[in-house]
Amino acid sequence: MRSFKLAIVGLTVIAFAAALGFRTTVESQDRPEARVDRVRRERFRHNGVVQDEEPPRSKAAPKNSRPMAPTAVEAPTGFDSLTNGHIEQGPDFGTINEDNVVPLRSYNDDRFVYEEVEGMDEGLGPTYNAQSCRECHQNIVTGGASQVTVQRTGRTDDGTFYESLGGSLIQSRATYRDLVELVADEDTTRTFRISPSTLGDGFVEAISNSTLLNISAAQPSNMRGNAVLVPVLEGNGDARIGRFGWKSQHGSLLSFAHDAYLNEMGITTPTLPEENTSSGTYVGYGSEYDPVEDPENDGVDAQAFTDFMRATKAPERGPITREALYGEQLFNQLNCNVCHVASITTAPAGTVINGGAFTVSPALGGKIIHPFSDFLLHDIGTGDGVPILPTPEYAITAMQMKTAPLWGLRTRSRLMHDGLTFTLNDAIMRHAGQALGSAQSYAALSNRQKVRLVAFLKSL
Ligand code: HEC
Ligand code: HEC
Repeated sequence: MRSFKLAIVGLTVIAFAAALGFRTTVESQDRPEARVDRVRRERFRHNGVVQDEEPPRSKAAPKNSRPMAPTAVEAPTGFDSLTNGHIEQGPDFGTINEDNVVPLRSYNDDRFVYEEVEGMDEGLGPTYNAQSCRECHQNIVTGGASQVTVQRTGRTDDGTFYESLGGSLIQSRATYRDLVELVADEDTTRTFRISPSTLGDGFVEAISNSTLLNISAAQPSNMRGNAVLVPVLEGNGDARIGRFGWKSQHGSLLSFAHDAYLNEMGITTPTLPEENTSSGTYVGYGSEYDPVEDPENDGVDAQAFTDFMRATKAPERGPITREALYGEQLFNQLNCNVCHVASITTAPAGTVINGGAFTVSPALGGKIIHPFSDFLLHDIGTGDGVPILPTPEYAITAMQMKTAPLWGLRTRSRLMHDGLTFTLNDAIMRHAGQALGSAQSYAALSNRQKVRLVAFLKSL
């Protein structure tokens, strides 16, 4: 049965390639996932255009005057499930149910959609990792991080990465018992990636491209971060500096929402209408496994997830003790703050970002945030070997990771991208490569100084 299916997919690949005038190489016949790979790569292509996302100029102002830059204020913080003002709070959350929820109406409605458990009728699977966004993003409140990890695998030959059949993301659950993706012996490039927080991500999205490029330019060359260009799926093919995901593989929350709905839950949308395979075998609509025609959702859910995330408050700081203040000085002396940037100001309200697809709202614009990240990629010796995509453009990202934002750090017991580090001391000692100097200086601190530095980290 299985080999029959594979043969059919193989034929489709050849027909598809022939139709496009591609050379049907032995490799493409051998690799039934080739078409899926190609579709994924084509969807994830940008035109190289990166807007600087400078704020709008006042009409009255002379042509060469500096853009308006209203005074920035602190972004609201809190683990309280209250809106940051981007959209209204809406009806009491406890009164919302499946029958009366109105997606896109309010924070509480959109939170309900983000928490909603999907089943096969809504398009869940056939391969998936969890039934709702909340399953992996909830701590302290909905939208937060969690201990849930996903698996990424592939193989690396002569320095070139090849994804596992069906993509580097393993879907560890399925709606049929024979469809769960298992890891092949030869796929020895293997990693876990833990679920990061999405709280405050609306502010992160509102950071202009030029701000991130300036941060990179100001870093010493041996520590400089890679500002990676990724497509805004809803933005006309334009590129943006990535900032979401462990590889900064997305620059817009709507793009991430579509991606996550498909890849974590198996639900297709007009933006990403092709169902995932099970290790390269087609199991979507028309096969015996998937009763729902694509796109399985009209795109409203992805917008609701996005509106919810955009309206979340940033993680709030814990008590700032004297010890923590001493520790912060050490943090800066050890150059931790070169990558873990303490303060960033979002673009002013009215700035058009995401390749023209989104205008920064008054609630998100001109806000000072304290993410303790530059959102850039670095090689600190922890790279997991899996690039954003297995294309030459992204090859360098295989051994780089995004600077983990340290806001909300005191709420996480599993550290680093793989969640395999248990203590802050161990997390720091895992830093090498571009962060080797910092790690060595840390190791040379007195015990008392180390305690202070950790006290600072525990206040985040
Ligand atoms: C099975 C667990 C799981 C589910 C379900 C899940 N996510 Fe995630 N999410 C992750 C992991 C793991 C990452 C990091 C992935 C990576 O970088 O490779 C992530 C990253 C993200 C990020 C980037 C956050 C940042 O600041 O870097 C966003 C945004 C996000 N998810 C949104 C969603 C939305 C919306 C949904 C529901 C459609 C969802 N996720 C469902 C596990 C999950
Ligand atoms: C060159 C850039 C760079 C420097 C310098 C740097 N870091 Fe990091 N840091 C990173 C990156 C990248 C990660 C994520 C690595 C991973 O997950 O594989 C990280 C992760 C962390 C984490 C884990 C956070 C989490 O949520 O899991 C902590 C804690 C941390 N860094 C603290 C520090 C401290 C303290 C210093 C100074 C002694 C420091 N870092 C210096 C880039 C840097």
